[in-house]
This record gives sequence, structure tokens and C-alpha cells, in this order.
Amino acid sequence: MISVQRGDMRYEGKAKRVYAVDRPDAYLVEFKDDATAFNGEKKGTIAQKGVVNNRLSAAMFTLLAAHGVETHYLETVSDREMLVRAVSIIPIEVVARNVVAGTLAKRLGLAEGTELARTVVEFYLKDDALGDPLINRSHALALGLATRPQLDELEARALRINEILKEHLLARGLLLIDFKLEFGLARDGRLILADEISPDTCRLWDAVTRDKLDKDRFRRDLGGVEEAYQEVARRLLP
Ligand code: TMP
Repeated sequence: MISVQRGDMRYEGKAKRVYAVDRPDAYLVEFKDDATAFNGEKKGTIAQKGVVNNRLSAAMFTLLAAHGVETHYLETVSDREMLVRAVSIIPIEVVARNVVAGTLAKRLGLAEGTELARTVVEFYLKDDALGDPLINRSHALALGLATRPQLDELEARALRINEILKEHLLARGLLLIDFKLEFGLARDGRLILADEISPDTCRLWDAVTRDKLDKDRFRRDLGGVEEAYQEVARRLLP
């Protein structure tokens, strides 16, 4: 593990804090145990979640980098902290779905657990005050959130990441139901995967029992929340 000088806090989200460090091209991300759902209406903590999500995100970013997907991950600093490349976050949450669940089930009246004929990619506006509404490409262009080629790239990147993660997880007994990604722009305009990849941002079901092993246990008061995060860590971490 490396040592960096933690500077001013630049941003505090619901599950992470971002700090400046003693080099201008990087930030320190600290993963908290805090958990929220329904746009912050439900609040709680999940013991050791920050440690698990920091380690899992590092492992997934490293896996993706090995497959040629550029990510913001630089190094692990401590149990709860990682050093990442400073990028400017595009305010679009990119969701990819392999199996119907969550808001897709509600919106289209489909049964949760139904396999989709092809992977669905959706864009949401990253705006807590509005509750992160679903948007289409036309909205994204009209709001100046991204250019047409960038939207194409976001979708292509999400599909590529889905293929890599889906295969890796299935080999470890986990179904990748859906997940959310955030991307940033480097100074030279390159698109870089940012944020985190964890049971907070992915739906993961046991491949045999189809038990939920992700944040839906917290969202839906299913119990066994900490145990689910630990089980995912046990399966995915070396
Ligand atoms: P949804 O079915 O609630 O729209 O969620 C789709 C995926 O996005 C699911 O894997 C959970 C993830 N997600 C986040 O990472 N952050 C969020 O704020 C929400 C609502 C969902």
C-alpha cells in the first residue's frame, strides 16, 4: 500500500467521500459504511461495506483494465481508500440490464427474474434533487450532457464491461442481473470508467439458488445484508 497526503474534501456522496491529494492528477476516494435507498429516503449503515466495496471495486477495475477497459483506479491506499485518476464526471448514470429487476420490472410491468432477449442499456440523469430520472439520447443531447459519439461510446463501453463482468462473475457462481456505471472525461477528452463496481451498484444473484447478494437486501429489508456483502467478497477476492 502507498502513502498519500489527504487534502481537502472535494465531494461527499451518499457512500463515498472524495479528497484532493498531494498531486493534481489524482483524488483519494474513501468508501463509507453508510447506505441509502430511494434517493436518500431510507438511511442506514452496513457494517464493513466500505471495506468490501473498496476491495471489490479495486478487483473489478483491475480485471477490466486487464481486458483493455480504461478505469480511474490507480492504487489501493488503505482498507477503505483508493487513489483514482482525477476526471470530470459526466452526469449520466449508465445502467445495463441482463435480467428484469428493480425499476425496469415496475416501469414495464415485467416479472422480476425474466431474462431479457438482449442487454438493455439505459441513461439516467445524475441529479439527486430530481431523483435521477430516466432520460433518452435526445434529452442527453439537448441538455448538453454528452455528444452523440460520446453517447455511442458510453453504450458500447457498458456492453463491453457487461460481457467481461458477466463471464467473470458466473465463473464464481454469481449472476450479473444489472449494474450502474459512471464515466468521466480525462483532460484530453478520453472517456474513463469511474465511480465504483460493488454490491451497491450491481444486482448479483446466486447462480444456483437465485438468492439476492447485493444492496436489494437493504433496500427491501430482506435481512442478511452484511452476510451478502461478505459472501460476494469471499467469492470474488483472492
Ligand atoms: P434500478 O432497477 O433501481 O433502476 O437499478 C438498476 C441498477 O442500478 C441496479 O444494479 C442498482 C443500480 N443503482 C445504483 O447503483 N444507484 C442508484 O442510485 C440506483 C437507483 C440504482
